[in-house]
Amino acid sequence: SFGPNIFVESQWLPFKSAIDSHLHKTWSATSIVNGKAINEYEVDGTSQKLSVQTVRAPWNHEVSAGEVTYANAELARHAIDVAVAGQSVWKNVPAVERAAILRKTADLYEENYAELMALCQVEAGKTMQDSIDEIKEAVDFCRFYADEAERLDATAYEFTDLNGQQSRQIYKARGTFVCISPWNFPLAIYTGQIVAALAAGNTVVAKPAEQTSLIAHFGAQLMYQAGIPVETLQLVIGAGDVGGALTAADNIAGVIFTGSTQTAQRINQSLNDHAQASGELPVFIAETGGQNAMIVDSTALPEQVVRDAVLSAFGSAGQRCSACRILCVQEEMADDLIELLQGNMAELSVGNPLYAATDVGPVIDADAKQGLEAHIERMNAEPTARILAQTPMSTSSVVSQEQSTFVLPTAIEVKSIDVIGGEHFGPILHVLRYQARDLDQLIDAINATGFGLTLGIHSRIENNAEHIERRAFVGNTYINRNQIGAVVNVQPFGGCGLSGTGPKAGGPHYVARLMTLSTESSVN
Ligand code: NAD
Ligand code: ALA
Repeated sequence: SFGPNIFVESQWLPFKSAIDSHLHKTWSATSIVNGKAINEYEVDGTSQKLSVQTVRAPWNHEVSAGEVTYANAELARHAIDVAVAGQSVWKNVPAVERAAILRKTADLYEENYAELMALCQVEAGKTMQDSIDEIKEAVDFCRFYADEAERLDATAYEFTDLNGQQSRQIYKARGTFVCISPWNFPLAIYTGQIVAALAAGNTVVAKPAEQTSLIAHFGAQLMYQAGIPVETLQLVIGAGDVGGALTAADNIAGVIFTGSTQTAQRINQSLNDHAQASGELPVFIAETGGQNAMIVDSTALPEQVVRDAVLSAFGSAGQRCSACRILCVQEEMADDLIELLQGNMAELSVGNPLYAATDVGPVIDADAKQGLEAHIERMNAEPTARILAQTPMSTSSVVSQEQSTFVLPTAIEVKSIDVIGGEHFGPILHVLRYQARDLDQLIDAINATGFGLTLGIHSRIENNAEHIERRAFVGNTYINRNQIGAVVNVQPFGGCGLSGTGPKAGGPHYVARLMTLSTESSVN
């Protein structure tokens, strides 16, 4: 299991009843352009009603969370034009005022935690712990990037040459950014992207993942309430086609994207095509997938390894880019560790995320479930692989498997990394044995996947841990702990290679990347 459950404490009860009071609400989401909710949009001179879809809770499809109105490509382009026009106002708002609005957003998120938590649980299927972490991270992003806006505004680099000519470099906003976010952090990453761009003095067109438009819409309303002007932030609701229309616009300063590596590659191609046509190359920040390993040598503490691996692999139903996908165990301790892993997985509670005791909730939708189960079946049929453990649904859970999208947490022993294929974004952990003499070969095989997001190391020999860390090509390394849950301004987060471009989210270079340095020279 994931360890002690904080929700048994009686102090939790008032918070729980505040959240419960929102659980049976039905929310709705539309695009918001220039402050107006858009249900219809004109195409070729004729007003067209936009398509509406019902959102169903991933843990019980009989529960409707609400309705979402999808934008079309014309509306997406209009939103860009509104944000581009809004730039002349927002870039002149002093950094301290921008920062104050972002801090106010953080306060409003905290005040509205109960509704935000209900949305995380109903729309995204998040457990209580994950919902709390989600809101906390969104709040942290608002406050940290507000601080960054002020810090960068106060930063001027000064230069003097031998003739007394003086120059100074100052940060300036770039223009309009398109922010495209994934469903797995439907508030935290969505908010983080937007507030970073706003902190820098840019205007924003945000397109959240289609699976989690309701919480994005509610978050945008709180941002407007905090004081973000309607011409500064546009919300466009829709799927990948609408995202494609936004990134193809020829008047944007950049794209901030978090999602799959394949989508990032598509956006990159579209931006390059655009650059060839117009000569301008927008800034592109992409945070993408991972094929993350945890390397365990024979000096590690087995109980701690298993606790950290189980949380890293099955926490958030494995739907974290940082999640542990491959547990690499030195042969000498592999049998004992596998036995402990099987015992721990048997203790996991898989089921309805509304229950405080649930460790693992559903995956996001039927496509995700189908892909993950197909991988488990393929591994089951693979002669060199062996299913080690699969946790059943919790007996106290009332949800039906047919009316929901649960994937059972599964551990699979494999003989090589190649057999796994790419990233499998859910509760599947692969276990690989290695011989101490082959450690470098193992690290090289992990590097050869091309991904470079997180790495876990468990060893009580400092030199060994250092050696692994130096040889591995990853963005975030965690030693003798779990490998998920990077904290804003504590563990700046982001990968390399197929895992992303940087700069690291929640770190000191992020907001600066969304700005341009301007040099002014003068002679006294
Ligand atoms: P996805 O790539 O399918 O979708 C992400 C966003 O891109 C969505 O808003 C989607 O509508 C949009 N999109 C899809 N096609 C598009 C196109 N052609 N043009 C523009 N936008 C388009 O990813 P997902 O399934 O929502 O998220 C899961 C993936 O995100 C995983 O691979 C995970 O590892 C990754 N992820 C990475 C990080 C990180 O920080 N590195 C964090 C969270 C998730
Ligand atoms: N920042 C998230 C984590 O570290 C993706 O798990």
